[in-house]
Amino acid sequence: MKSYDLWIGGEWRRAARYEPLYAPYGGDKLADIAAASAAEAEEAIVNAHEAFLSYRNMPAYKRAEILYQAAALLEERSEACIRILVQEAGKPVKAARGEIARTAETYRFAAEEAKRIAGDQIPMDAAAGGTGRIGFTVKTPIGVITAITPFNFPFNLVAHKVGPALAAGNAIVLKPAEQTPLSALFLADLFRDAGLPDGVLNIIPGGGAELSEILTTHPHVKGVTFTGSPEVGRIIQRQAGLRKVTLELGSNSALIVDEGIDVASIIDRCVEGAFVYNGQVCISLQRVYVHRSLYEEFVARFVRRTEQLQIGAPGEESTDVTSLISNKALQRIAEWVDEAVQGGAMLECGGMVLEHQILAPTVLTGVNPSAKVVAEEVFGPVVSIAPFDTLEEAVAAVNRSRYGLHAGIYTPRIDRAFYAAREIDAGGVIINDIPTFRTDQIPYGGRKDSGIGREGIRYAVEEQMDTKFISFKLQP
Ligand code: SIN
Repeated sequence: MKSYDLWIGGEWRRAARYEPLYAPYGGDKLADIAAASAAEAEEAIVNAHEAFLSYRNMPAYKRAEILYQAAALLEERSEACIRILVQEAGKPVKAARGEIARTAETYRFAAEEAKRIAGDQIPMDAAAGGTGRIGFTVKTPIGVITAITPFNFPFNLVAHKVGPALAAGNAIVLKPAEQTPLSALFLADLFRDAGLPDGVLNIIPGGGAELSEILTTHPHVKGVTFTGSPEVGRIIQRQAGLRKVTLELGSNSALIVDEGIDVASIIDRCVEGAFVYNGQVCISLQRVYVHRSLYEEFVARFVRRTEQLQIGAPGEESTDVTSLISNKALQRIAEWVDEAVQGGAMLECGGMVLEHQILAPTVLTGVNPSAKVVAEEVFGPVVSIAPFDTLEEAVAAVNRSRYGLHAGIYTPRIDRAFYAAREIDAGGVIINDIPTFRTDQIPYGGRKDSGIGREGIRYAVEEQMDTKFISFKLQP
């Protein structure tokens, strides 16, 4: 059985402690994984700090070359990456392939962004006191960034933290999700082969409060970027104090299907948005509000299409829905479905717990809006559908949430599209598509409990840099 060490300072280091890693589908043991202690994390931070002192001076074109090369190597090695995703994340192979293609593109966006970093010229004589001076800003990397990443896109959401850090000239300590360390550790050799200097990228799997605390409070750490739950996000924000913090904290994303839409033409896309990777996506379609004139047709078609989804092993080409990441997640979601049904909801399909930690794709109607499957983030294959009469009512329902990451609206009317775009309280409003839409250059982040700051390479680079003002007085 293979065992994986910590990647610190450009070399593999034995750890004091190792944890077994199991596949979500089938439960096979995959490897033993180093579990970093706080002292080992500190070693990684100190190495990152030392590497930063020279990496910050590497010219932008060289940083870009490393990122381009990393993207090319990822494509060359994509079969191995896909295998890792299938095994450790239980990601259906179709979705795994899509994630790796996106990850290469994300690193290419980072390479391009590295060459675009620039400050501004300030019109100094706009103020009487500024006359006779030239003023401008330069963008400076901030230092060591720690990245704490989730299990659901273990290559691409890592790329959304590592890519901007390297583009900006920062060094990084990456703590991947405990369920998906292999995807992150795969990057060690990849970036070394791409020419990244030792110590700029450090990868330390592990878990626990002590580890998170050192990653957010060590004096060399200047920025923290986290994707995960609001509960952990709040702790990180508190611990990080005056450091820069980016938090991407999920959602219970909603879609409005307005009157006048051809329901048949959008069903496949809606079902995909609800059940891709078993709904374990922060912008998974969880709530659908359908104009009453289309409601019955929508529910019937949606349920029929959902029942056609293929349930199976993640390695099978035909599989759409497979094991959830853990038995704990399965039990929680199944309880939430039961609670909704006890509260009067109608189970239109699914709801069964199957072998291999699988929940059959589940569609509910008539759900009490305060039930957890509507009000909280399910992060599983469960969608609730409700009718509405007026668009104002639908938008109010979308906004009746502690989250605000992405929302979508299908409408044939431009005035109603712009009304929704203006009134929906979310980081992104997706018109004529599902909220699950994302490409990797768009600003991505939420309002309310969905977090603070933005990812999407250009925006994440901004989050990870300082602005320094320089003033030249023309006469000393
Ligand atoms: C997420 O789950 O936040 C990422 C969704 C995506 O990148 O498509």
